Amino acid sequence: MVDLRVGVIGTGKKKARPDRFGYAMAYEHGNAYKAIEGCQIVACADLVEENARAFADTYGAEKTFTDYKQMLAEMKLDMVSICTWMHLHEPMVLAACKAGVKAIHCEKPMADTWGGAKRMTEAADKAGVQLTFNHQRRYGAPYTMAKQMLDSGEIGDLVRQEVECGNLYDSGTHWIDMCSFFNKETPAKWVLGQIDYRKENRVFGAHCENQQVVLTEYENGVFALIMTGVGENKVVGAVSKLIGTHGEILIGVHGGPALRYRRAGERNWTDVDTHGESIHGPGFIERAIADVVQCLREGRKCQLDAHNALIATEIIFGAYESSRRRGRVDFPLNIEDNPLAAMVESGALKPQKEDS
Ligand SMILES: NC(=O)c1ccc[n+]([C@@H]2O[C@H](COP(=O)([O-])OP(=O)(O)OC[C@H]3O[C@@H](n4cnc5c(N)ncnc54)[C@H](O)[C@@H]3O)[C@@H](O)[C@H]2O)c1
Repeated sequence: MVDLRVGVIGTGKKKARPDRFGYAMAYEHGNAYKAIEGCQIVACADLVEENARAFADTYGAEKTFTDYKQMLAEMKLDMVSICTWMHLHEPMVLAACKAGVKAIHCEKPMADTWGGAKRMTEAADKAGVQLTFNHQRRYGAPYTMAKQMLDSGEIGDLVRQEVECGNLYDSGTHWIDMCSFFNKETPAKWVLGQIDYRKENRVFGAHCENQQVVLTEYENGVFALIMTGVGENKVVGAVSKLIGTHGEILIGVHGGPALRYRRAGERNWTDVDTHGESIHGPGFIERAIADVVQCLREGRKCQLDAHNALIATEIIFGAYESSRRRGRVDFPLNIEDNPLAAMVESGALKPQKEDS
């Protein structure tokens, strides 16, 4: 029996090689819903009609739309997946809340501005809608196993995390969200960051810095150092490092395993078998969406919930704001915009155009 009528906004077009101009993430969502009993994708919307049709054919949706608002008005949906680029997340979440759906699962990053991320969260809270974001790494073996080790005291108490990633806003949202995951969803107190943006770099349409160094302190005294852009090995040996009072855990070891650890006093690392799962998958999104649906059915808070996502989002926009102010930014972050985009717009940053 179908108990969840699902609609998908922004189906994309499946490509042999996904890139920063299109991953067609909707198909990842589609595969996840298909595997859940009682879920049926009944409709989808895309500006490009043939994209919507191809998606509907793949998942047996009854109806396609080019206007997502019309879909929301006509289809009596219980749940919506939003898989468009980030500048559209806020208006689409607000419209879905207004249409009376029970749950929205939206792609990351939350929104294109800090004000937008807060407004989406407030609108969902007010309407009683479960709003979640696709930070799927929380369901990956390298991360869940690292968290189990951390929680069982294998490396003592967490004192510091180090992360390297391509950029802060797009790929960084995953990694900074993982910092929240490891640090018990504790909000940050302040952030200090500096960026370099000399060559235009747009990912899914959004400006992303070329290089950045960010330090943040969480309310429980744990620090995170986040380094983006140029070069590997900014975190020595791995993509992410958890440093505890009695040891260290490495995630995504360069040229090595997805997970390894070393207790204080040990010279050698111990590699952990992550059962064939790398830092990127497989299976993360299927598990994430299965949990989102389970939480909805059981009326329980999901770890992908907007309030958890706000913790990482505040650090991201706060770090850009720190660069704009040339100083430390204390939280709560009292801006509304995206400081990186605003600095480009005002001419304070002049990245060389991509096609020049
Ligand atoms: N979770 C992950 O690991 C992950 C990986 C890649 C991308 N993403 C995120 O997924 C999101 C979508 O990226 P993508 O690469 O799948 O996009 P995409 O370009 O493949 O698909 C987006 C689709 O949205 C459609 N669209 C645009 N405006 C619309 C509108 N007003 N109404 C309806 N449809 C509209 C476009 O026609 C396009 O087909 C981005 O936020 C991106 O950051 C997440």
